[in-house]
Amino acid sequence: MISRISHACLLAAGLAVGSFFAAPAAAVASPAPAPSGADSLLYAAPYLQDMQPGSIDVLFQTRRHAVTWVEYGPDTTRLQRARTLVDGQQAVHDVAHRIHLSGLTPGQRYVYRVCAVELLENHAYHKTFGDTARTPFRSFRLPAPDEESFTAVIVNDLHMSAKVMDAFAAQLDTMRYDFVIFNGDCLPEPSTRADAMRMIAACADMARSDEHPTWFVRGNHEIRNAYSSGMHTLLGNPGGRTYGAFSWGDTRFVMLDCGEDKPDSTWVYYGLNDFTALRREQVDFLQAERRSRPFRRAGRRVLVHHIPLWLNTDKYQPCMELWQPVVSRMAFDVDLCAHVHSFGYLEAGSKGNPFPVVRGGGPSMKGATMLVLVRRGKRLTLHVRDTEGATVRTIEL
Ligand SMILES: [Fe+2]
Repeated sequence: MISRISHACLLAAGLAVGSFFAAPAAAVASPAPAPSGADSLLYAAPYLQDMQPGSIDVLFQTRRHAVTWVEYGPDTTRLQRARTLVDGQQAVHDVAHRIHLSGLTPGQRYVYRVCAVELLENHAYHKTFGDTARTPFRSFRLPAPDEESFTAVIVNDLHMSAKVMDAFAAQLDTMRYDFVIFNGDCLPEPSTRADAMRMIAACADMARSDEHPTWFVRGNHEIRNAYSSGMHTLLGNPGGRTYGAFSWGDTRFVMLDCGEDKPDSTWVYYGLNDFTALRREQVDFLQAERRSRPFRRAGRRVLVHHIPLWLNTDKYQPCMELWQPVVSRMAFDVDLCAHVHSFGYLEAGSKGNPFPVVRGGGPSMKGATMLVLVRRGKRLTLHVRDTEGATVRTIEL
């Protein structure tokens, strides 16, 4: 595992966090001033995303164009290689890499490492290569299909607050957990690809996403600024969409993308947004999900989205009208939301909500929350922790 570096120091200095070869984020954006050598080739630690039954994706970036692959296996003596092919040829045209590991046995622990060779020259019939960079071995484990127990960590609205991220990172260092969900406004206003990479690396470092599968649910701040429409090149969203579902063993998680917090016609969007259509699309998704075998057969069900349905304080609340009729028929055990920057809890039935609603806190040291969702057998419990590590609330679900 990588050693941690203070998010406060590195974010203040504009450096990539979590990188075992930390260097100015600006160097990533510029193709010209690139120090050579394998040690500077990998931008930051890899992060695990888009876990599906029997597969997971390893994402990472290089500072320069490179030939990359992942070596993985049940132990370091039985490794196989995976690489990304595009229409028959290896993908070497971009510094963003996503390598799909398939044929994995659920319940089995795997080790893996990322390897990269810099492509110094790349012409039709002539190529030259640099040295090979290899990360240390890391490990992960996919759940078995009927597995009931897990510990999940859900955070929201970090807004790149270095103090909060350092505090949560310190807690996570001492915890055992299986996976992490960032429930929006954790990658705020990406201005450039380098900026987006810097923020993803910081979050992934905090969550130790190199060994814990991680999902980034989109909040309204992720969809602002110049690089917001480019985030798919850096994130392993399920099915290439910003909403979706996954099963952790016997528990189903359904994640929605609420879009912006003001109407599409608001002048600040200059006519470039159509979240109305994206929200409607998710009605179809929810209806299909409701009928799906993984959802119907799940022992527990968790709904995750950034802007609240029932604990929303915004004037504009399009999701409630659209989604409430279908989600109300989906027998969720809890609805986890965010956005308002203050912790909130609604017991089932108190405001027409058919299931309990938990709203995570904000980005200040006083108000930030880390939700730790623990399932042990049939029992599902949500522990709400503050930045000092104290459990401020325990909710049986
Ligand atoms: Fe928000």
